Amino acid sequence: MMIRVILIALIAFTAGCGKDMGSTTEFDQATSQVLQPADPALAEIYSRSCRSCHTVAATGAPLTGDVAGWSPRLEKGMDTLVNNVVNGSGGMPPFGMCMDCDLDQFEALIEFMARGKD
Ligand code: HEC
Repeated sequence: MMIRVILIALIAFTAGCGKDMGSTTEFDQATSQVLQPADPALAEIYSRSCRSCHTVAATGAPLTGDVAGWSPRLEKGMDTLVNNVVNGSGGMPPFGMCMDCDLDQFEALIEFMARGKD
């Protein structure tokens, strides 16, 4: 798990360096990086957990505010998505790195990321 976190940190770092090289992602990750939940409590959780991956295309995470990218995910249903956060999915560690989040908060975070606003 620690190794995975370090790897992702490295990927994130490299992605930052390569920014000027002309990224080929359809949705601009710079756009996702300026988005923040309006609710201060949710924004605080988001900033210290989901944001570190869901605003960095190189992690493979669907980007915050990328409505088109999130739509096939939303089709799985909110219960499945919350479940996949709790258990971890692909490159995402269990709880999305928010160990103290409850299910309602995960749902609010997912809705925010999928729409780019809460
Ligand atoms: C360490 C990086 C990382 C963090 C932190 C992270 N995610 Fe993810 N997330 C990912 C990756 C990578 C994927 C794509 C995984 C996949 O397709 O299986 C993903 C996918 C998802 C999905 C879609 C799952 C599905 O079934 O399609 C949801 C929902 C999600 N994340 C929510 C969250 C929430 C909420 C948080 C914060 C509490 C969070 N993530 C934090 C990396 C992360």
